[in-house]
Amino acid sequence: MLPQSKALALAGLAATVVAGPCDIYASGGTPCVAAHSTTRALFSSFSGSLYQVTRSSDNGVTDIRPLSAGGVANAATQDSFCSGTSCTISIIYDQTGRGNHLTRAPGGGAGPGSDNLAVATAAPVHLNGQKAYGVFIPPGTGYRNDVATGTATGDGAQGMYAVLDGTHFNGDCCFDYGNAETSNDDTGNGHMEAIYFGNAGPGGAGNGPWIMADLENGLFAGSTSGKNPSVPTITDRFVTAIVKGQPNNFALKGGNAASGALSTFYNGPRPNVTGYNPMKKEGAIILGIGGDNSRRAQGTFYEGVMTSGFPSDATESSVQANIVAAKYTT
Ligand SMILES: *[C@@H]1O[C@H](CO)[C@@H](O)[C@H](O)[C@H]1NC(C)=O
Repeated sequence: MLPQSKALALAGLAATVVAGPCDIYASGGTPCVAAHSTTRALFSSFSGSLYQVTRSSDNGVTDIRPLSAGGVANAATQDSFCSGTSCTISIIYDQTGRGNHLTRAPGGGAGPGSDNLAVATAAPVHLNGQKAYGVFIPPGTGYRNDVATGTATGDGAQGMYAVLDGTHFNGDCCFDYGNAETSNDDTGNGHMEAIYFGNAGPGGAGNGPWIMADLENGLFAGSTSGKNPSVPTITDRFVTAIVKGQPNNFALKGGNAASGALSTFYNGPRPNVTGYNPMKKEGAIILGIGGDNSRRAQGTFYEGVMTSGFPSDATESSVQANIVAAKYTT
């Protein structure tokens, strides 16, 4: 038998290791309504499919699951299935059970015709020493779900985080993850609320890249349409990016996804530009593109979620600790 102190320490360790980001959001009263990752399970109990790959040799498909419940993706399955040919990521499954999966984005107002799918081997990474693959998005590539359920609509509250490659970005529109139009068209100010990452304007301090909110017809770093010097240039290889919003309030936060805590860059009123208060969110989900399928941006996505409700800072701090504990390395 273990001495009680050691047993308690081990129990505590097991508890911190097993709770996934979506278990943490649920405990905080702001459950995940979409959870996407090609690198790991985002619920401790999740052992279902993380993503689907399609190989070019015969258009065959296979699903990649975690090595164990709550664990890292089984990259070896992809490697053997795609051996001698090439594969794309054709579905990024929603882990919440709601079926809010991401698939090839259809054409939209700013980009007619379907987008490309990501090359499955283009963003290799390690989590806790185990190989996995992220979603490498060059211009022209994008994912979407126009019939998502449970995501915020209108002025409803939501939270989001994404783990991204802080060194893969550009200054064009728009490397986004989050809430967008269901029509693939620009339907006006306030019809989106997504995480943006890159060095398009207005930005903040330095030359970027920055974490901003794409609220449609504008990337926003604060309470005006201008620059916000409190939003720093990101220099980390792995970045945790957070945007959350509720009536007349939104916040931008970020941190190093491989160590340390989050910082709040902005937490205040909606921009003082007509059309953003109240918001008119539509609840579709985009990755790598703008709401009207603007697809000139680039970036790399590893994992991200959308929640119902405005998560507390304490909840997001625990999520950041969980991300750090996942030990992302190149
Ligand atoms: C928003 O606020 C800024 C700073 O106070 C001000 O310069 C700007 O004119 C305002 N914009 C609008 C549209 O009210």
